[in-house]
Amino acid sequence: MNYPVWDVTFLGSGLMIALIAIFHVFISHFAVGGGFYLPMTEALALRKGRKDWMEQLKKHSKFFLILTGVFGAVTGVGIWFVIGLANPEATSTLIHFWVFAWGIEWVVFLVELSSIAAYYYLWGRVSDALHIKIGWVYAITAWLSLFAINGILTFMLTPGQPWLAVAGSGHETFAFWSAFFNPTFWPSLLVRTLICLSMAGVFALVSASRIDGEKHPELKTETILWARKWLLPSFLLLPVGLFWYLSQVPEGHRALLSLGAATVGQGLFTILTRLTIVLALASFGTVASVYLLTSQRNAVGFRLGAALGIASLAYMTIGATEMLREMLRKPYVIGQHMYSNGVRKSEVAGFNQNGYLTKTLWVRPEERARWAAEDQAAASGAPRIVNPARGELMFRGQCMACHTWDGYRGMRTFLKGRDRQGVSNIVNVLHAYRADSPYRPFMPPLVGTQAEVESLIDYLTSQVSAPKPQPSKP
Ligand code: HEC
Repeated sequence: MNYPVWDVTFLGSGLMIALIAIFHVFISHFAVGGGFYLPMTEALALRKGRKDWMEQLKKHSKFFLILTGVFGAVTGVGIWFVIGLANPEATSTLIHFWVFAWGIEWVVFLVELSSIAAYYYLWGRVSDALHIKIGWVYAITAWLSLFAINGILTFMLTPGQPWLAVAGSGHETFAFWSAFFNPTFWPSLLVRTLICLSMAGVFALVSASRIDGEKHPELKTETILWARKWLLPSFLLLPVGLFWYLSQVPEGHRALLSLGAATVGQGLFTILTRLTIVLALASFGTVASVYLLTSQRNAVGFRLGAALGIASLAYMTIGATEMLREMLRKPYVIGQHMYSNGVRKSEVAGFNQNGYLTKTLWVRPEERARWAAEDQAAASGAPRIVNPARGELMFRGQCMACHTWDGYRGMRTFLKGRDRQGVSNIVNVLHAYRADSPYRPFMPPLVGTQAEVESLIDYLTSQVSAPKPQPSKP
């Protein structure tokens, strides 16, 4: 516990990451898809000699300029900001290990930004052939930035044995390539590329829906039919990609998913279950509405409202997928290496032996000395002194990465009606962390000495209202 804890009331810091990241993923994926869409569509329009389509495409490219240059860039920085606050320990590991990968990604992003700007501002000012080439520079650099980030993101789920074997030794760099091309790298790249292409199709639909169908029926029909072709690759290959991806995820992580699906009827693991349902409904809804609403017969009358409806369904699909991916990684932030609360797997035994709060900066020395004296007294038989303040630090350091008090994964709801004994039962299960513990798939072990664990129980008990005593009958 070397860093301050970011307390986001109600939402929790983890959900803050999710909210910004989903928005960013949405934008960045369709910026990548758009990269391919622009030069390919331009070449098609050129071949067909369609000046009106070119005009339409020019407007569409302005949208991508703003999207990538403003929203993509700002939310990308936003992610750095929020992960640095929410999970400083993991962010530090990622920065130290991946510094060259990030460096490459930033260079690629710079070329991506410059080329989309050049593409937009050079419409009609350079030869068509050169213009299309600039479009391809944008497409390729945008996809390469996905390539780089994909290595880092998939590393966080499956760092791979070679890296895990040297993690913490100072020799991690020797495992750079195996960590980059880790077990989920290729399937994830396939899935993300497919999503990018679909997103390009969805947003081409939004842009096409704004064409006046009475004035330009042919243009509108043609752009819509072309746009929906972009969804086809996903439709065919996405299930294959997802299956391949899941097959590379370690057994233990997958167990959580099947647990989520198997408990639908019992109302357990509510968030996971809801996500799975949202994912299934939203992806089916996207495909079905695209094919029904944009058929040749309906194309001319296709409206902005319908297009935005499809876009929202696609947004929900991506949101659910990303959140599921995060859930798969639980309880780790870096698979098999660091738990979501910043505790490394290798540190667990040491913390249990020497205490979790022994070295933290957030305790005054005199306070620490008093706790040590109390622990010693308790060890030689003196009555334990209740110490919720110490427990609060335990909670902040080890639980708040995933829990809030009254909002997202709210502790008050989870612990409602439990007395000290009831709280203590759960907490001790978390601390013992036995192989058959029901919490293992989604919660890290609670670390610390027995006295620290007791103080956490004190704190949790002091926060949840104990059940009211039954009025005794006269
Ligand atoms: C890696 C994230 C993570 C961390 C860290 C974490 N939890 Fe959890 N916890 C979860 C998840 C996920 C659930 C299940 C939520 C659900 O059912 O929607 C959960 C559920 C719970 C529940 C309800 C269990 C039940 O049987 O109903 C309790 C109590 C709880 N956590 C306590 C704690 C305590 C105490 C800590 C700190 C020592 C902690 N958690 C740390 C993720 C975490």
